[in-house]
Amino acid sequence: MTKSATQPVNNTFAYLDGGWRPLTECTVPVNTHALQYGTGCFEGIRGYWSGDRINILFLREHFQRLAGNAALLMMKSPTVDEMCTIATRLVRQNEPKHNIYIRPMVYKKGLTLGPVLIDVPDGFLCYMQPLGDYLDTSKGLSVCVSSWQRLSDNSIPTRTKATGGYLNSALAKSEAVMNGYDEAVFLNDRGQVCEGSAENIFLVRGGELITPDRTADILEGITRRAILQFAKDLGIPAVERPVARTELYLADELFLVGTGCQVSWVRSVDKRVVGAGTRGPLTERLQRAYEDAVYGRNPAYASWLTPA
Ligand SMILES: Cc1ncc(COP(=O)(O)O)c(C=O)c1O
Repeated sequence: MTKSATQPVNNTFAYLDGGWRPLTECTVPVNTHALQYGTGCFEGIRGYWSGDRINILFLREHFQRLAGNAALLMMKSPTVDEMCTIATRLVRQNEPKHNIYIRPMVYKKGLTLGPVLIDVPDGFLCYMQPLGDYLDTSKGLSVCVSSWQRLSDNSIPTRTKATGGYLNSALAKSEAVMNGYDEAVFLNDRGQVCEGSAENIFLVRGGELITPDRTADILEGITRRAILQFAKDLGIPAVERPVARTELYLADELFLVGTGCQVSWVRSVDKRVVGAGTRGPLTERLQRAYEDAVYGRNPAYASWLTPA
């Protein structure tokens, strides 16, 4: 992750609980429930600059996921239509001329003490910032299997993108970086491969694309779903199934996917070189398909993009 790629820009307009203000003026009280207890859930959405406008990728899909997750976590979000309108207006108002990242969040804005979800008022915010590459992928990523175990569905469900759950990601990512790696790969409480700190994972073995299934304590990634769609459209055999740790060491190709990292190839895992130590042929095809789709170069996927 490069520092400049993750810095917010303060002179943009943002949305907070019904009002539009400069980002620096969007503040919450120190005793806000979400700040105290991690009671929020969020999305990360990319907007791609196409030379004359921003195309928002999977706008509706992200807000459908957010609305579902908020309901699961007993939070009331605006409707999907309302959130799509806010995000589109956010982009129009700020007029960016580069790739952006949109961060909406449903959060518990009550000021009461006690970690409970019922009878605590809900808020909604949405801001944006520039975003280039989230991970530096030019040399391929060096990843490690984390010593931190992934949260399970019966503790903090990772599929909800709950703010509090990201402490688990932060511990794993920090450990990885402190040990000289680019990224961490979690195992779940069954010892199976799960996902990265903010990415889903794919392996290639014997020409087959493999990714942990939806019961593996992963976030059901929207990019993951897009990759599976490309695989189908390109005739690449793909399977969602439990993945054992040692399959990582035997993989011919390995890559991470997500809104942030897009499609990022992995050169080594736990210092073991993956395949030939170069970006593999299936990874390359899928990365190209992804880039063509998000930059509007493939009309077959035009419905994935919403012009702002
Ligand atoms: C833990 C985790 N897994 C996977 C992903 C990828 O999900 P998506 O493709 O929907 O961005 C993310 C989000 O960025 C994430 O935070």
